[in-house]
Amino acid sequence: MDLFTAIEARRAIKHYSSNETVSEADFERIMQAVLLSPTSYNIQHWRFVRVTDPQQRSRIQEAAWGQTQITEAAELIILCADTQAWSDDPQRYWANTNAEVQSVMLPMLQAFYEGKGQLQRDEALRSSGMAAQTLMLAAKALGYDTCPMIGFDSEQVARIINLPAGHLISMIITLGKADRPANPRAGQLPLEEVLLENSY
Ligand SMILES: Cc1cc2nc3c(=O)[nH]c(=O)nc-3n(C[C@H](O)[C@H](O)[C@H](O)COP(=O)(O)O)c2cc1C
Repeated sequence: MDLFTAIEARRAIKHYSSNETVSEADFERIMQAVLLSPTSYNIQHWRFVRVTDPQQRSRIQEAAWGQTQITEAAELIILCADTQAWSDDPQRYWANTNAEVQSVMLPMLQAFYEGKGQLQRDEALRSSGMAAQTLMLAAKALGYDTCPMIGFDSEQVARIINLPAGHLISMIITLGKADRPANPRAGQLPLEEVLLENSY
């Protein structure tokens, strides 16, 4: 499927066919594509929890006010992010560059984030959002459906997955095959309203 078709065909799918699985090869391909998403300073804040344990799924469903896609979808991925990734051995993020590049980039990265809690959190969420869209479009390109979700008690889900300190949950994504199409689009704002030239 070409990119524009995938963009147009991706919808938030709430009902999944319970006898459709995602092959391991497709899952791996989608996740490898996700790893190519952009992040500031190449920090790659994202961490992904693939929930395969049915009991854990049920507990997450309870924390998500019973939303059915949590247990119906073939796969459930919790998109987490490490707000402290900027300081966690950042040399790794520039490992393939030469010493000269590293000597410029690493102190720059440190100075940009150090002591700026809000920015650290914003960046973790930005990175995770980039990963989310890549995941959903890659899945669609391979014929799968997804739903991004924030309708859950984050603290409860954090406890269920043992979320480490300094990490956050940005969203959950369900992945599988729709057994019912999405409703017609609810109402897109016109481009003229959201696209500005030069300033507000
Ligand atoms: C961050 C985020 C959180 C969302 N949370 C939920 C959710 O908890 N449950 C749900 O059914 N849909 C959820 N959605 C899906 C949106 O309702 C949906 O993306 C939006 O209505 C546009 O529809 P479309 O994705 O089919 O174009 C969420 C979407 C985003 C981007």
